[in-house]
Amino acid sequence: MGRLDLVRAARWKVAAGRLLLFVRMKVRLVSGSHFSAAHRLHRDDWDEETNRRVFDKCNNEHGHGHTYELEVTVEGEIDPDTGYVMDFGDLKRAVQKNVIDRLNRRHLNFDVDFLRGINPTAENIAAGIWRELSEKVKPARLVRIALNETEKNRVVYEGERA
Ligand code: NI
Repeated sequence: MGRLDLVRAARWKVAAGRLLLFVRMKVRLVSGSHFSAAHRLHRDDWDEETNRRVFDKCNNEHGHGHTYELEVTVEGEIDPDTGYVMDFGDLKRAVQKNVIDRLNRRHLNFDVDFLRGINPTAENIAAGIWRELSEKVKPARLVRIALNETEKNRVVYEGERA
């Protein structure tokens, strides 16, 4: 291949790379983790009977524990240099630092700043995790928080749709 051909090939490669920017594929990454925590579902402005009826076992006076399974899903475009949307290690560390380390082995009614004053249902925990994590997964975008409170019960939060 002559020198001129090499230059042409290099230019073509740059042009193809630019074109690829417009057709980059969006891919989702799912990072799984778990934490154990105690909670009590209770409303002070309801009588005991109503609290028991609505919140059942989760109304236990001194709280009780769950092992929560968490699934965090982010979405982004594949970086042509790395082939990654984002490094799975970075995603795992973001979840560990911003969520797991703050919830694991804690009492959700008392020990977690971002849940203060919030009845710690799985729904409210998932929404709180979203708020804590949404700015911490760049360059990807947070699209889904799935939280299992038991093996059979799962809540899913995908942010507020405009
Ligand atoms: Ni419970």
